[in-house]
Amino acid sequence: MEERKGFGSNFGFLMASVGSAVGLGNIWGFPNKMGASGGFTFLVVYLVLAVLCGFIVMVGELALGRKTGKGVVSAYHVLSKRFKWLGWLGILSPFFILFFYCALGGYCIKYVVVNVGDLFGASFGSAAFAEVAAANGTSLGAEVFNAFMGNPTEAIIYGLIFVALTMLIVMGGVSGGIEKVCSVGMPALFVMLLICIIRACTLPGAVNGLKYMFVPGWAVANGIIEEAPNFLTVLSTAGGQMFFSLSLGMGAMITYGSYLGKKENIQKNGLLIVIMDSIVAFMAALCVLPGRFALDPNGDLGGPGLLFVTMQNVFSRMGGMGPLFGILFYLLVVFAAISSSISLLEVIVAHFVDKARDAGKGDKRKVYTLIAAAAVSLGCILVCADALGNSSFSPADLLGIAEPKAWAADWLDFWDAVSEGVMMPLGALLMTFMVAYEIGTDVVKDEIEQCGNKFTAFKFYNVCVRYVAPLGLLLVLYGQIKQFFF
Ligand code: PHE
Repeated sequence: MEERKGFGSNFGFLMASVGSAVGLGNIWGFPNKMGASGGFTFLVVYLVLAVLCGFIVMVGELALGRKTGKGVVSAYHVLSKRFKWLGWLGILSPFFILFFYCALGGYCIKYVVVNVGDLFGASFGSAAFAEVAAANGTSLGAEVFNAFMGNPTEAIIYGLIFVALTMLIVMGGVSGGIEKVCSVGMPALFVMLLICIIRACTLPGAVNGLKYMFVPGWAVANGIIEEAPNFLTVLSTAGGQMFFSLSLGMGAMITYGSYLGKKENIQKNGLLIVIMDSIVAFMAALCVLPGRFALDPNGDLGGPGLLFVTMQNVFSRMGGMGPLFGILFYLLVVFAAISSSISLLEVIVAHFVDKARDAGKGDKRKVYTLIAAAAVSLGCILVCADALGNSSFSPADLLGIAEPKAWAADWLDFWDAVSEGVMMPLGALLMTFMVAYEIGTDVVKDEIEQCGNKFTAFKFYNVCVRYVAPLGLLLVLYGQIKQFFF
Protein backbone atom coordinates (compact mmCIF):
# COMPACT_ATOMS: atom_id res chain seq x y z
CA MET A 1 0.00 0.00 0.00
CA GLU A 2 1.08 3.59 -0.61
CA GLU A 3 2.83 5.24 2.31
CA ARG A 4 1.20 8.21 4.06
CA LYS A 5 3.75 11.01 3.67
CA GLY A 6 4.07 13.63 6.39
CA PHE A 7 6.19 16.69 7.12
CA GLY A 8 9.88 16.39 6.28
CA SER A 9 11.11 18.25 9.36
CA ASN A 10 9.91 19.75 12.60
CA PHE A 11 10.73 23.21 11.30
CA GLY A 12 8.52 22.56 8.29
CA PHE A 13 5.69 21.40 10.52
CA LEU A 14 6.09 24.43 12.73
CA MET A 15 6.08 26.88 9.83
CA ALA A 16 3.04 25.20 8.29
CA SER A 17 1.16 25.31 11.59
CA VAL A 18 2.13 28.89 12.28
CA GLY A 19 1.14 29.58 8.68
CA SER A 20 -2.28 28.12 9.33
CA ALA A 21 -2.67 30.15 12.48
CA VAL A 22 -1.36 33.43 11.07
CA GLY A 23 -3.96 34.71 8.67
CA LEU A 24 -6.53 37.38 8.06
CA GLY A 25 -7.60 36.96 11.68
CA ASN A 26 -4.25 38.30 12.89
CA ILE A 27 -3.75 41.13 10.47
CA TRP A 28 -7.29 42.30 10.16
CA GLY A 29 -9.28 41.11 13.16
CA PHE A 30 -6.80 41.53 15.97
CA PRO A 31 -5.72 45.19 15.61
CA ASN A 32 -9.26 46.44 15.53
CA LYS A 33 -10.56 44.25 18.33
CA MET A 34 -7.64 45.12 20.53
CA GLY A 35 -8.20 48.84 20.14
CA ALA A 36 -11.96 48.73 20.47
CA SER A 37 -11.92 46.42 23.47
CA GLY A 38 -9.73 48.39 25.80
CA GLY A 39 -6.25 48.03 24.33
CA PHE A 40 -3.87 46.66 26.86
CA THR A 41 -6.60 44.97 28.92
CA PHE A 42 -7.67 43.10 25.83
CA LEU A 43 -4.10 41.98 25.19
CA VAL A 44 -3.76 40.58 28.70
CA VAL A 45 -7.13 38.82 28.55
CA TYR A 46 -6.22 37.46 25.13
CA LEU A 47 -2.92 36.05 26.32
CA VAL A 48 -4.44 34.46 29.43
CA LEU A 49 -7.12 32.80 27.30
CA ALA A 50 -4.52 31.70 24.76
CA VAL A 51 -2.66 29.84 27.51
CA LEU A 52 -5.67 28.46 29.41
CA CYS A 53 -7.80 27.47 26.43
CA GLY A 54 -5.84 27.91 23.21
CA PHE A 55 -2.75 26.00 24.23
CA ILE A 56 -4.85 23.28 25.84
CA VAL A 57 -7.01 22.69 22.79
CA MET A 58 -3.97 23.01 20.52
CA VAL A 59 -1.88 20.26 22.16
CA GLY A 60 -5.02 18.11 22.43
CA GLU A 61 -5.74 18.41 18.71
CA LEU A 62 -2.13 17.83 17.68
CA ALA A 63 -1.88 14.78 19.93
CA LEU A 64 -5.15 13.23 18.76
CA GLY A 65 -4.15 13.79 15.16
CA ARG A 66 -0.74 12.22 15.60
CA LYS A 67 -2.07 9.34 17.67
CA THR A 68 -4.53 8.27 15.01
CA GLY A 69 -2.40 9.25 12.03
CA LYS A 70 -5.59 10.05 10.19
CA GLY A 71 -7.66 12.91 8.82
CA VAL A 72 -10.23 14.44 11.10
CA VAL A 73 -13.23 12.24 10.25
CA SER A 74 -11.39 8.95 10.73
CA ALA A 75 -9.58 10.30 13.78
CA TYR A 76 -12.83 10.84 15.68
CA HIS A 77 -14.12 7.53 14.42
CA VAL A 78 -11.19 5.67 15.90
CA LEU A 79 -11.17 7.63 19.14
CA SER A 80 -14.72 7.83 20.31
CA LYS A 81 -18.02 6.04 20.34
CA ARG A 82 -20.16 9.00 21.34
CA PHE A 83 -18.38 11.69 19.32
CA LYS A 84 -17.78 9.71 16.13
CA TRP A 85 -19.67 12.25 14.08
CA LEU A 86 -17.64 15.21 15.33
CA GLY A 87 -15.12 14.77 12.53
CA TRP A 88 -17.73 15.81 10.00
CA LEU A 89 -18.13 19.09 11.80
CA GLY A 90 -14.35 19.40 11.54
CA ILE A 91 -14.56 19.04 7.77
CA LEU A 92 -17.59 21.20 7.15
CA SER A 93 -16.19 24.19 9.07
CA PRO A 94 -13.11 24.59 6.86
CA PHE A 95 -15.25 24.09 3.79
CA PHE A 96 -17.51 27.02 4.73
CA ILE A 97 -14.59 29.15 5.91
CA LEU A 98 -12.92 28.69 2.54
CA PHE A 99 -15.92 30.26 0.79
CA PHE A 100 -15.24 33.66 2.27
CA TYR A 101 -11.57 33.25 3.00
CA CYS A 102 -10.80 32.75 -0.70
CA ALA A 103 -12.99 35.68 -1.64
CA LEU A 104 -11.06 37.92 0.74
CA GLY A 105 -7.75 36.45 -0.38
CA GLY A 106 -8.75 37.43 -3.91
CA TYR A 107 -9.51 40.99 -2.75
CA CYS A 108 -6.00 41.17 -1.32
CA ILE A 109 -4.47 40.08 -4.62
CA LYS A 110 -6.45 42.84 -6.31
CA TYR A 111 -4.89 45.37 -3.93
CA VAL A 112 -1.39 44.16 -4.73
CA VAL A 113 -2.26 44.86 -8.34
CA VAL A 114 -3.69 48.30 -7.50
CA ASN A 115 -0.44 49.26 -5.79
CA VAL A 116 1.64 47.91 -8.66
CA GLY A 117 -0.49 50.18 -10.83
CA ASP A 118 0.36 53.15 -8.60
CA LEU A 119 4.02 52.31 -8.69
CA PHE A 120 4.07 52.55 -12.47
CA GLY A 121 1.44 55.25 -12.77
CA ALA A 122 -0.78 52.80 -14.66
CA SER A 123 -4.50 53.19 -15.20
CA PHE A 124 -5.32 50.33 -12.82
CA GLY A 125 -3.77 52.14 -9.87
CA SER A 126 -5.71 54.05 -7.23
CA ALA A 127 -4.50 57.40 -8.59
CA ALA A 128 -6.87 56.94 -11.52
CA PHE A 129 -9.72 57.63 -9.08
CA ALA A 130 -8.40 61.03 -7.99
CA GLU A 131 -10.99 63.05 -9.91
CA VAL A 132 -13.96 60.95 -8.87
CA ALA A 133 -12.85 61.06 -5.26
CA ALA A 134 -12.48 64.83 -5.38
CA ALA A 135 -15.87 65.26 -7.05
CA ASN A 136 -17.60 62.98 -4.53
CA GLY A 137 -15.69 64.30 -1.55
CA THR A 138 -14.51 60.78 -0.73
CA SER A 139 -11.08 59.17 -0.69
CA LEU A 140 -9.06 57.20 -3.22
CA GLY A 141 -9.36 54.07 -1.11
CA ALA A 142 -13.12 54.43 -0.92
CA GLU A 143 -13.43 54.88 -4.68
CA VAL A 144 -11.15 51.94 -5.45
CA PHE A 145 -13.22 49.72 -3.21
CA ASN A 146 -16.55 51.00 -4.52
CA ALA A 147 -15.51 50.38 -8.08
CA PHE A 148 -14.24 46.93 -7.19
CA MET A 149 -17.45 46.02 -5.36
CA GLY A 150 -19.42 47.32 -8.30
CA ASN A 151 -17.68 44.86 -10.57
CA PRO A 152 -18.45 41.36 -9.27
CA THR A 153 -16.90 39.70 -12.31
CA GLU A 154 -13.53 41.14 -11.41
CA ALA A 155 -13.94 40.05 -7.79
CA ILE A 156 -14.85 36.55 -8.91
CA ILE A 157 -11.78 36.33 -11.11
CA TYR A 158 -9.51 37.35 -8.24
CA GLY A 159 -11.28 34.96 -5.88
CA LEU A 160 -10.79 32.10 -8.30
CA ILE A 161 -7.13 32.97 -8.74
CA PHE A 162 -6.78 32.62 -4.99
CA VAL A 163 -8.58 29.27 -5.01
CA ALA A 164 -6.31 28.08 -7.82
CA LEU A 165 -3.15 29.07 -5.94
CA THR A 166 -4.40 27.27 -2.84
CA MET A 167 -5.22 24.23 -4.92
CA LEU A 168 -1.84 24.09 -6.63
CA ILE A 169 0.02 24.14 -3.32
CA VAL A 170 -2.16 21.45 -1.76
CA MET A 171 -1.75 19.32 -4.89
CA GLY A 172 1.99 19.41 -4.23
CA GLY A 173 1.40 17.40 -1.07
CA VAL A 174 2.28 17.96 2.56
CA SER A 175 6.07 18.06 2.33
CA GLY A 176 6.31 18.99 -1.35
CA GLY A 177 3.71 21.75 -1.34
CA ILE A 178 2.53 23.01 2.05
CA GLU A 179 5.81 22.61 3.92
CA LYS A 180 7.93 24.13 1.16
CA VAL A 181 5.75 27.19 0.71
CA CYS A 182 5.42 27.88 4.44
CA SER A 183 9.11 27.33 5.24
CA VAL A 184 9.96 30.22 2.94
CA GLY A 185 6.76 32.22 3.18
CA MET A 186 6.50 32.54 6.95
CA PRO A 187 9.99 33.92 7.62
CA ALA A 188 9.49 36.25 4.64
CA LEU A 189 6.17 37.41 6.03
CA PHE A 190 7.82 38.20 9.34
CA VAL A 191 10.46 40.38 7.69
CA MET A 192 7.89 42.16 5.53
CA LEU A 193 5.78 42.88 8.57
CA LEU A 194 8.77 44.26 10.41
CA ILE A 195 9.52 46.66 7.56
CA CYS A 196 5.90 47.81 7.48
CA ILE A 197 5.90 48.37 11.26
CA ILE A 198 8.99 50.55 11.09
CA ARG A 199 7.44 52.66 8.33
CA ALA A 200 4.06 52.94 10.06
CA CYS A 201 5.43 53.82 13.48
CA THR A 202 7.70 56.55 12.12
CA LEU A 203 4.88 58.41 10.37
CA PRO A 204 3.94 61.72 12.00
CA GLY A 205 0.85 61.15 14.13
CA ALA A 206 1.50 57.43 14.49
CA VAL A 207 1.65 57.84 18.22
CA ASN A 208 -2.13 58.09 18.41
CA GLY A 209 -2.35 54.57 17.05
CA LEU A 210 -0.11 53.42 19.85
CA LYS A 211 -2.26 55.26 22.38
CA TYR A 212 -5.38 53.66 20.95
CA MET A 213 -3.71 50.30 21.43
CA PHE A 214 -2.10 50.70 24.78
CA VAL A 215 -3.76 53.38 26.84
CA PRO A 216 -6.91 52.09 28.54
CA GLY A 217 -9.78 54.54 28.12
CA TRP A 218 -8.05 56.59 25.41
CA ALA A 219 -10.41 55.41 22.66
CA VAL A 220 -13.49 56.45 24.64
CA ALA A 221 -12.02 59.72 25.85
CA ASN A 222 -11.21 60.67 22.26
CA GLY A 223 -14.58 59.66 20.87
CA ILE A 224 -13.24 56.80 18.78
CA ILE A 225 -15.57 54.32 20.38
CA GLU A 226 -18.71 55.37 22.19
CA GLU A 227 -18.39 53.39 25.37
CA ALA A 228 -16.01 50.85 26.76
CA PRO A 229 -17.28 47.29 26.42
CA ASN A 230 -17.96 45.43 29.67
CA PHE A 231 -15.61 42.75 30.87
CA LEU A 232 -17.76 39.86 29.69
CA THR A 233 -17.80 41.27 26.18
CA VAL A 234 -14.04 41.74 26.24
CA LEU A 235 -13.65 38.18 27.44
CA SER A 236 -15.81 36.68 24.73
CA THR A 237 -14.40 38.90 21.98
CA ALA A 238 -10.86 37.94 22.96
CA GLY A 239 -11.84 34.29 23.20
CA GLY A 240 -13.50 34.21 19.80
CA GLN A 241 -10.57 36.02 18.23
CA MET A 242 -8.01 33.73 19.86
CA PHE A 243 -9.86 30.68 18.74
CA PHE A 244 -10.21 31.58 15.10
CA SER A 245 -6.70 32.92 15.03
CA LEU A 246 -5.21 29.66 16.32
CA SER A 247 -7.12 27.59 13.74
CA LEU A 248 -8.73 25.55 16.50
CA GLY A 249 -12.04 23.79 16.80
CA MET A 250 -11.99 22.19 13.41
CA GLY A 251 -9.79 19.69 11.66
CA ALA A 252 -6.75 21.83 10.84
CA MET A 253 -4.49 21.04 13.76
CA ILE A 254 -5.67 17.44 13.96
CA THR A 255 -4.78 16.97 10.32
CA TYR A 256 -1.38 18.68 10.61
CA GLY A 257 -0.73 16.69 13.80
CA SER A 258 -1.41 13.50 11.89
CA TYR A 259 1.55 14.28 9.65
CA LEU A 260 3.96 14.93 12.52
CA GLY A 261 6.73 12.44 13.35
CA LYS A 262 6.47 10.52 16.62
CA LYS A 263 9.72 11.82 18.03
CA GLU A 264 8.73 15.49 17.78
CA ASN A 265 7.74 17.39 20.89
CA ILE A 266 4.05 18.33 20.78
CA GLN A 267 4.09 20.37 23.98
CA LYS A 268 6.90 22.58 22.75
CA ASN A 269 5.46 22.90 19.25
CA GLY A 270 2.02 23.76 20.60
CA LEU A 271 3.45 26.46 22.81
CA LEU A 272 5.54 27.89 19.98
CA ILE A 273 2.54 28.06 17.64
CA VAL A 274 0.53 29.95 20.26
CA ILE A 275 3.40 32.34 20.99
CA MET A 276 4.26 33.05 17.36
CA ASP A 277 0.64 33.55 16.38
CA SER A 278 0.16 36.04 19.20
CA ILE A 279 3.36 37.87 18.30
CA VAL A 280 2.30 38.25 14.68
CA ALA A 281 -1.16 39.48 15.71
CA PHE A 282 0.44 42.04 17.95
CA MET A 283 2.91 43.07 15.26
CA ALA A 284 0.09 43.48 12.77
CA ALA A 285 -1.60 45.86 15.18
CA LEU A 286 1.65 47.83 15.40
CA CYS A 287 1.57 48.26 11.64
CA VAL A 288 -2.10 48.81 10.90
CA LEU A 289 -3.17 51.14 13.71
CA PRO A 290 -0.32 53.67 13.65
CA GLY A 291 -0.72 53.82 9.87
CA ARG A 292 -4.42 54.50 10.13
CA PHE A 293 -4.12 57.14 12.85
CA ALA A 294 -1.32 58.91 10.99
CA LEU A 295 -2.71 59.03 7.47
CA ASP A 296 -6.42 58.30 7.59
CA PRO A 297 -7.52 59.41 11.05
CA ASN A 298 -11.21 59.21 10.20
CA GLY A 299 -10.98 55.94 8.32
CA ASP A 300 -12.78 52.74 9.27
CA LEU A 301 -11.14 50.85 12.10
CA GLY A 302 -12.76 47.52 11.41
CA GLY A 303 -14.63 45.46 8.88
CA PRO A 304 -13.72 45.36 5.19
CA GLY A 305 -13.28 49.13 5.27
CA LEU A 306 -10.17 48.82 7.42
CA LEU A 307 -8.25 46.61 5.05
CA PHE A 308 -9.61 47.80 1.73
CA VAL A 309 -10.32 51.49 2.22
CA THR A 310 -8.37 52.82 5.18
CA MET A 311 -5.14 50.95 4.50
CA GLN A 312 -5.27 51.84 0.81
CA ASN A 313 -5.62 55.49 1.81
CA VAL A 314 -2.59 55.10 4.04
CA PHE A 315 -0.49 53.95 1.10
CA SER A 316 -1.95 56.45 -1.33
CA ARG A 317 -1.06 59.28 1.05
CA MET A 318 2.37 58.06 2.00
CA GLY A 319 4.12 59.78 -0.86
CA GLY A 320 6.69 58.33 -3.27
CA MET A 321 7.35 55.11 -1.39
CA GLY A 322 3.62 54.51 -0.72
CA PRO A 323 2.98 52.07 -3.56
CA LEU A 324 6.03 50.02 -2.60
CA PHE A 325 4.82 49.70 0.97
CA GLY A 326 1.34 48.98 -0.36
CA ILE A 327 2.69 46.10 -2.44
CA LEU A 328 4.66 44.82 0.53
CA PHE A 329 1.71 45.03 2.89
CA TYR A 330 -0.91 43.45 0.65
CA LEU A 331 1.53 40.77 -0.45
CA LEU A 332 2.13 39.84 3.13
CA VAL A 333 -1.61 39.64 3.70
CA VAL A 334 -1.94 37.39 0.64
CA PHE A 335 0.83 35.17 2.05
CA ALA A 336 -0.83 35.03 5.44
CA ALA A 337 -4.15 34.16 3.84
CA ILE A 338 -2.74 31.48 1.55
CA SER A 339 -0.83 29.70 4.29
CA SER A 340 -4.15 29.49 6.15
CA SER A 341 -6.30 28.51 3.20
CA ILE A 342 -4.00 25.61 2.30
CA SER A 343 -4.48 24.23 5.82
CA LEU A 344 -8.23 24.55 5.40
CA LEU A 345 -8.24 22.76 2.07
CA GLU A 346 -5.85 20.10 3.35
CA VAL A 347 -8.36 19.10 6.05
CA ILE A 348 -10.87 18.17 3.38
CA VAL A 349 -8.41 16.66 0.94
CA ALA A 350 -6.60 14.57 3.60
CA HIS A 351 -9.81 12.79 4.54
CA PHE A 352 -10.62 11.65 1.03
CA VAL A 353 -7.02 10.88 0.09
CA ASP A 354 -6.67 8.68 3.20
CA LYS A 355 -9.86 6.84 2.41
CA ALA A 356 -8.78 6.13 -1.13
CA ARG A 357 -5.36 4.96 -0.01
CA ASP A 358 -6.86 2.67 2.64
CA ALA A 359 -9.14 1.20 0.00
CA GLY A 360 -6.08 0.38 -2.11
CA LYS A 361 -6.85 2.95 -4.78
CA GLY A 362 -3.41 4.56 -4.61
CA ASP A 363 -2.55 8.24 -4.39
CA LYS A 364 -5.59 10.27 -5.35
CA ARG A 365 -4.36 13.62 -3.99
CA LYS A 366 -4.45 15.53 -7.26
CA VAL A 367 -7.95 14.42 -8.23
CA TYR A 368 -9.47 15.07 -4.82
CA THR A 369 -7.78 18.43 -4.48
CA LEU A 370 -9.24 19.41 -7.83
CA ILE A 371 -12.73 18.29 -6.82
CA ALA A 372 -12.55 20.02 -3.43
CA ALA A 373 -11.27 23.22 -5.02
CA ALA A 374 -14.07 23.13 -7.58
CA ALA A 375 -16.62 22.84 -4.77
CA VAL A 376 -14.97 25.68 -2.86
CA SER A 377 -15.03 27.80 -6.03
CA LEU A 378 -18.81 27.71 -6.08
CA GLY A 379 -19.02 29.14 -2.58
CA CYS A 380 -16.33 31.68 -3.38
CA ILE A 381 -18.20 32.81 -6.49
CA LEU A 382 -21.35 33.28 -4.41
CA VAL A 383 -19.53 35.44 -1.87
CA CYS A 384 -17.77 37.51 -4.56
CA ALA A 385 -20.93 37.98 -6.63
CA ASP A 386 -22.78 39.11 -3.53
CA ALA A 387 -20.22 41.92 -3.09
CA LEU A 388 -20.75 42.28 0.66
CA GLY A 389 -24.52 42.31 0.36
CA ASN A 390 -24.70 44.76 -2.57
CA SER A 391 -26.39 42.11 -4.66
CA SER A 392 -30.09 41.37 -4.71
CA PHE A 393 -29.55 37.87 -3.37
CA SER A 394 -27.97 38.30 0.04
CA PRO A 395 -29.43 35.95 2.68
CA ALA A 396 -31.55 38.85 3.95
CA ASP A 397 -32.92 39.50 0.45
CA LEU A 398 -33.76 35.87 -0.11
CA LEU A 399 -35.41 35.51 3.27
CA GLY A 400 -37.12 38.89 3.15
CA ILE A 401 -35.49 40.20 6.32
CA ALA A 402 -35.73 43.98 6.40
CA GLU A 403 -33.24 44.71 9.16
CA PRO A 404 -30.85 41.81 9.11
CA LYS A 405 -28.43 40.86 11.88
CA ALA A 406 -24.83 40.19 10.90
CA TRP A 407 -25.43 36.58 9.83
CA ALA A 408 -27.98 37.53 7.18
CA ALA A 409 -26.56 40.82 5.93
CA ASP A 410 -24.37 39.25 3.27
CA TRP A 411 -23.04 35.85 2.23
CA LEU A 412 -19.60 36.51 3.66
CA ASP A 413 -21.02 37.03 7.12
CA PHE A 414 -23.42 34.16 6.69
CA TRP A 415 -20.67 31.58 6.18
CA ASP A 416 -18.59 33.26 8.85
CA ALA A 417 -21.49 33.04 11.32
CA VAL A 418 -22.10 29.37 10.58
CA SER A 419 -18.44 28.35 10.84
CA GLU A 420 -16.64 30.75 13.12
CA GLY A 421 -19.78 31.67 15.05
CA VAL A 422 -21.16 28.26 15.84
CA MET A 423 -19.37 25.24 14.42
CA MET A 424 -15.82 25.99 15.54
CA PRO A 425 -16.46 26.80 19.21
CA LEU A 426 -18.98 23.97 19.39
CA GLY A 427 -16.51 21.53 17.85
CA ALA A 428 -13.79 22.50 20.31
CA LEU A 429 -16.16 22.37 23.27
CA LEU A 430 -17.25 18.85 22.38
CA MET A 431 -13.64 17.84 21.77
CA THR A 432 -12.65 18.89 25.28
CA PHE A 433 -15.65 16.97 26.65
CA MET A 434 -14.59 13.92 24.73
CA VAL A 435 -11.03 14.09 26.03
CA ALA A 436 -11.94 14.95 29.60
CA TYR A 437 -14.97 12.74 30.15
CA GLU A 438 -14.92 9.95 27.60
CA ILE A 439 -11.51 8.84 26.40
CA GLY A 440 -9.51 10.35 29.27
CA THR A 441 -6.58 12.74 29.35
CA ASP A 442 -4.06 9.88 29.52
CA VAL A 443 -4.62 9.31 25.83
CA VAL A 444 -3.23 12.78 25.15
CA LYS A 445 -0.45 12.34 27.71
CA ASP A 446 0.70 9.00 26.30
CA GLU A 447 0.84 10.43 22.81
CA ILE A 448 2.79 13.50 23.86
CA GLU A 449 5.23 11.36 25.83
CA GLN A 450 6.16 9.19 22.85
CA CYS A 451 9.88 8.64 22.23
CA GLY A 452 10.92 9.89 25.67
CA ASN A 453 9.36 13.38 25.45
CA LYS A 454 7.91 14.72 28.69
CA PHE A 455 4.49 16.33 29.07
CA THR A 456 5.56 18.57 31.94
CA ALA A 457 2.36 20.59 31.78
CA PHE A 458 0.16 17.53 32.25
CA LYS A 459 -1.29 18.56 35.64
CA PHE A 460 -2.09 21.99 34.26
CA TYR A 461 -3.56 20.36 31.17
CA ASN A 462 -5.72 18.06 33.23
CA VAL A 463 -7.34 20.87 35.21
CA CYS A 464 -7.76 23.14 32.21
CA VAL A 465 -9.28 20.58 29.91
CA ARG A 466 -11.82 19.51 32.54
CA TYR A 467 -12.93 22.85 33.90
CA VAL A 468 -11.30 25.96 32.51
CA ALA A 469 -11.36 25.27 28.78
CA PRO A 470 -15.01 24.11 28.63
CA LEU A 471 -16.03 27.18 30.58
CA GLY A 472 -13.97 29.44 28.35
CA LEU A 473 -15.36 27.79 25.25
CA LEU A 474 -18.93 28.15 26.45
CA LEU A 475 -18.25 31.82 26.87
CA VAL A 476 -16.76 32.03 23.40
CA LEU A 477 -19.78 30.27 21.94
CA TYR A 478 -22.10 32.65 23.76
CA GLY A 479 -20.13 35.68 22.57
CA GLN A 480 -20.02 34.50 18.97
CA ILE A 481 -23.72 33.75 18.85
CA LYS A 482 -24.49 37.12 20.35
CA GLN A 483 -22.26 38.88 17.85
CA PHE A 484 -23.62 37.20 14.76
CA PHE A 485 -27.24 36.53 15.60
CA PHE A 486 -28.44 39.24 18.01
N1 PHE B 1 -6.21 31.14 11.77
C1 PHE B 1 -6.60 31.71 10.54
C2 PHE B 1 -6.62 33.23 10.66
O1 PHE B 1 -6.30 33.78 11.66
C3 PHE B 1 -7.93 31.23 10.07
C4 PHE B 1 -8.11 29.76 10.12
C5 PHE B 1 -9.08 29.22 10.90
C6 PHE B 1 -7.27 28.93 9.40
C7 PHE B 1 -9.23 27.86 10.99
C8 PHE B 1 -7.38 27.57 9.49
C9 PHE B 1 -8.36 27.03 10.30
O2 PHE B 1 -6.97 33.91 9.75
